[in-house]
Amino acid sequence: MKSEMEANILKVLITEEELHRRVAEMGEELYRRFEGKNPLFLGVLKGSFVFMADLVRACQVKSDVEFIAVSSYQNATASSGRVQITHDLQQDITGRHLIIVEDILDSGNTLAFLRQYFLTKGAASITIVTLLDKPSRRTKAISADLSGFTVPDEFVVGYGLDYAQQYRNVPYIGVLKPEVYTHG
Ligand code: IMP
Ligand code: MG
Repeated sequence: MKSEMEANILKVLITEEELHRRVAEMGEELYRRFEGKNPLFLGVLKGSFVFMADLVRACQVKSDVEFIAVSSYQNATASSGRVQITHDLQQDITGRHLIIVEDILDSGNTLAFLRQYFLTKGAASITIVTLLDKPSRRTKAISADLSGFTVPDEFVVGYGLDYAQQYRNVPYIGVLKPEVYTHG
């Protein structure tokens, strides 16, 4: 049965099975890199929440989790360039090995801003992990240390990623039909 949301999806880019297989590999890779280092998984809300939940369970290393919320889009499909912290860190990160968990690395504005912010807060090291990478749209000199999938220059939704706060609960990564953007 097609859900109300699925009717608006033009195509599936990454299936649930592909997501789970890749996230498992990423968890194992992070285990190898961070065993014995007590890293702090730092999710960038809201988009990373589904990926974060799967990634931390795929990486059974002694660690803890933290979140920061930022916004830069204001319901459009292109970054406004300004990054605002809407929910700040709730703990001291001085001396911590951070694993920043992002949904997608697009222009790079968000992560360029956050990397600088976390350095000024005294992080010992910063590792950028992104589920998706859209390198064709990069305007900032920033790259992921670990990336799940490279995606083409198309606006994607699902597995945490939204369009106007919707579609985060779609279990795969898909592309919306063009008329959805024009008619809301
Ligand atoms: P950047 O600052 O341009 O790199 O954008 C990063 C943020 O923009 C991500 O964390 C997402 O929340 C959002 N974003 C960028 N591209 C997409 C997309 O294709 N679909 C949904 N959200 C996106
Ligand atoms: Mg978003």
